[in-house]
Amino acid sequence: MCGIIGILGREAVAPRMVDALKRLEYRGYDSAGVATLEHGHLTRRRAEGKLKNLEHRLEREPLAGTIGIGHTRWATHGRPNETNAHPHAGKRVAVVHNGIIENFNELRHELQGNGASFVTETDTEVVAHLVDHLMGTGLSPVAAVKAALPRLRGAFALGFLFEGEEDLLIGARRGSPLAVGHGDGEMYLGSDAIALAPFTSTISYLEDGDWVVLKRGGLQVYDETGAPVNRVTMKSPASAFLVDKGNYRHFMAKEIHEQPEVVGHTLAHYVDFAAERVVLPDLPFDIRTVQRVTIAACGTAYYAGLTGKYWFERFARLPVEVEIASELRYGDAPFTPGNLSVFVSQSGETADTLATLRHAKANGQHVVSVVNVPTSTIARESDVVMPTLAGPEIGVASTKAFTCQLVVLACLAIAAGRARGNLSEDDERRLVRALIEVPRHMTAALALEPEVEKLARDIAKSRDVLYLGRGTSFPLALEGALKLKEISYIHAEGYAAGELKHGPIALIDETIPVIVIAPHDRVFEKTVSNMQEVAARGGKIILLTDPQGVAEAAVESLATLVLPHMPASVTPMVYAVPVQMLAYHAAVIMGTDVDQPRNLAKSVTVE
Ligand code: F6R
Repeated sequence: MCGIIGILGREAVAPRMVDALKRLEYRGYDSAGVATLEHGHLTRRRAEGKLKNLEHRLEREPLAGTIGIGHTRWATHGRPNETNAHPHAGKRVAVVHNGIIENFNELRHELQGNGASFVTETDTEVVAHLVDHLMGTGLSPVAAVKAALPRLRGAFALGFLFEGEEDLLIGARRGSPLAVGHGDGEMYLGSDAIALAPFTSTISYLEDGDWVVLKRGGLQVYDETGAPVNRVTMKSPASAFLVDKGNYRHFMAKEIHEQPEVVGHTLAHYVDFAAERVVLPDLPFDIRTVQRVTIAACGTAYYAGLTGKYWFERFARLPVEVEIASELRYGDAPFTPGNLSVFVSQSGETADTLATLRHAKANGQHVVSVVNVPTSTIARESDVVMPTLAGPEIGVASTKAFTCQLVVLACLAIAAGRARGNLSEDDERRLVRALIEVPRHMTAALALEPEVEKLARDIAKSRDVLYLGRGTSFPLALEGALKLKEISYIHAEGYAAGELKHGPIALIDETIPVIVIAPHDRVFEKTVSNMQEVAARGGKIILLTDPQGVAEAAVESLATLVLPHMPASVTPMVYAVPVQMLAYHAAVIMGTDVDQPRNLAKSVTVE
């Protein structure tokens, strides 16, 4: 992960780099730093912790240089302290890095043998020493970087600044994203277009293996063989304004409450409301000939994929494998050419998901991606992009992107069902009508917030929490547990309700809240039986259901949250709302950093 910025400017760049880093803080927030040239000399300011610590440092010790590189870190190698904060420097070069240098140990020993002395625990420091060493043999900065890059193994984006070189920045990309911004007599490097948005909307994305030499007057991109290449310049849609929290205390709260609106926007993109039909982008393949679908993703996006499986199998009678991307990429799953692989990702930059996409493509799969950032690498490398229109998601815990992913997957499954003759026109209308009602039901679910907040007080006192669900409520149980763990740090697990008796039931006692997601659907009675088993062992049940579920549950629960009645095809989107609110309020009560929970980052560009 980590965020990178580089500016070849005409005025002091440190404050501008901090501004850009604020926009990149979603990529990591363990420490931050900048380096500039002060009268030609490499000078750094770094600080442990959030970016505001670096800002305060720069207020006390300002920098005046007009060229610089900056970094916000998500620690991989070495603790998140000031020593390990980037930029790292040798005598002649400073480096910022996003990714992992896999052969750092081997290089470190070699460079130590040449007299380099290392001061950090990071993998990045070897890059600084390697380039420094090569420059010490008489190579120019450009020649030294060119010679150093083939020696590095792993995935990375790098930015270089050189002692005494007032008009030179070098960037390099292998695996991790890197964009170049074109300004008026200025040039920029950034992990993404959002970081560069205050400076320019004219962007070129480096391709894998590219490296770029930037001067104020222009740039030259080289591919991994060292041949000069041209990369397309495009206008980025990223907004120059930092998205703000409005009247909400946290981005997560704002994003939970935005769901009726953004789900409505996403629906409007895929549904003809008047005709009650799903309208998809043209697919460059015939979905009728697809024999099997593979869905791959990570974390919350993976749970969206798991939910999608139920819809594809029901609506389109298409067998679906849902895979954790980091497992699929190193597994031996056989792909039959001509089948469909769907990749789900909010950021569109998740390293494991991207690598799996490339693996699937190489194995002859048609590649569809469901992404929230349309300029992302995953979007750019897909055959078909199906955007979620959630808008920028800033809270590290995914909320609105998840429900928009569900909407897109449901639409794709319905379209596949129609094309394959498994759904009639009437079936499609019925399913689309249910989707159109989702924003309204979400608004009703949001109105439960005072009750949810009260329940969160109980949850916040617990050491462990269980979530249960069957059918499409099972992935939501997993998502509920993930949401609670990641922002409140309370241990939680999600289980398929029927699986409880095969082991986890041993955990049940009167101290454990068991959150049961049970809309009155075709598996409701089965879930009720599992609730009975929990109640018989003194478990504290919190039931999420609808009026008919309340009438038929007949199990003593600590509390019941009553959602509106709705067709079973859309319950995951709507029941996600109280599940997210419960995690949010528990975290607020626990006093954690809700939007930037410890150890996490919004965009996971390392494997
Ligand atoms: C959890 C969360 C993560 C992401 C995962 C994949 O709230 O946000 O589990 O879902 O890191 O990220 P994307 O969707 O960007 O590929």
